[in-house]
Amino acid sequence: MTYFKQWPGLIKAYEKWLPITLKTPIITLQEGGTPLLALKYINELIGKNVKVYAKYDGLNPTGSFKDRGMTMAISKAKEAGCKAVICASTGNTSAAAAAYAKKGDMRSFVLIPDGYVAQGKLAQALVYGAEILAIKGNFDKALKIVQELANNLPVTLVNSVNPYRLEGQKTAAFEIVDSLGDAPDYLCIPMGNAGNISAYWMGFKEYFNAGLSKKLPKMMGFQAAGSAPLVLGKTISNPETIATAIRIGNPVNKEKALTVKKESDGKFSGVTDNEIIKAYKILGKEEGIFCEPASAASIAGLLKIKDEIPNNSTIVCVLTGNGLKDPDCAINNNDALFKSGIEPDIEIVAKSMGF
Ligand code: F0G
Repeated sequence: MTYFKQWPGLIKAYEKWLPITLKTPIITLQEGGTPLLALKYINELIGKNVKVYAKYDGLNPTGSFKDRGMTMAISKAKEAGCKAVICASTGNTSAAAAAYAKKGDMRSFVLIPDGYVAQGKLAQALVYGAEILAIKGNFDKALKIVQELANNLPVTLVNSVNPYRLEGQKTAAFEIVDSLGDAPDYLCIPMGNAGNISAYWMGFKEYFNAGLSKKLPKMMGFQAAGSAPLVLGKTISNPETIATAIRIGNPVNKEKALTVKKESDGKFSGVTDNEIIKAYKILGKEEGIFCEPASAASIAGLLKIKDEIPNNSTIVCVLTGNGLKDPDCAINNNDALFKSGIEPDIEIVAKSMGF
């Protein structure tokens, strides 16, 4: 049997690319090192000679890409002697903040939009021991409040305005280039607060400038049509979408994202909830990948722009979160055969199987 050493977590794996010192205590759950999966069925749907991959970041320790940023943000907070962190969240940031804060022996306060956080994410924050404040208002309102609180109280803000978050998240771009041997031609990514697209671009540029890739990808950002401030070019006061993770109307990293679009010659588009669910189902049924609806926006987006993609392109779609995060969405949106109330009798069961 081949013996593989354990993946050490992304700070150790990419330490020379990250703002850490010998004094930084590394708070890790061995995040990163996630699979880059070839998507055969989606590839066929594109109908050209292209190569489509998914960066499956739902396989991080708390089930989303937020762990990449949180290992850095919490390690640096610990280094600075901080005892408590705070964030606003549509769910995944709060799960990651809570887990890493515990690992670093800190308190975590999380503000969430009451009633709009998927069950799995809420369960995580509860189990990891976060101090949860559900507010009557959406993510944008919660973010304003935590920014203000972090300015006045001894708590460190760990939303993506914390620069260490993006530093950690940029390692996903490094991993993609390390796997493919070069950058892809296109990166398709869901956008909410637009931190992740900015982090990926930073990572791709750093590798390119160091001569580790020969090209830079076009950054294709996708938002849910009902929550698409970056596509429409204006703040949305009542964002709506089934993809609650990206139910954001006033992205805090707006300016950064617009720069990414310009520098990379990319494009931002909206995808409807129907398109998101269609892609979500395809991923599960045809590719064996269970992601959360916000993540499926990257695939929905690729299917939408497929005619613009030239032959021989390499495309990476980022799957930001695990499907288990949102069991209600799965139960309400599938084409499964589910027969219940079957008698425990061999013949009856066989008959129900169609034999
Ligand atoms: N996908 C998932 C699963 C997310 O949870 C988020 C953001 C995004 C995509 C968008 O990333 O904000 O960097 O553009 N979730 C945040 C949260 C807002 O609170 O968990 P972004």
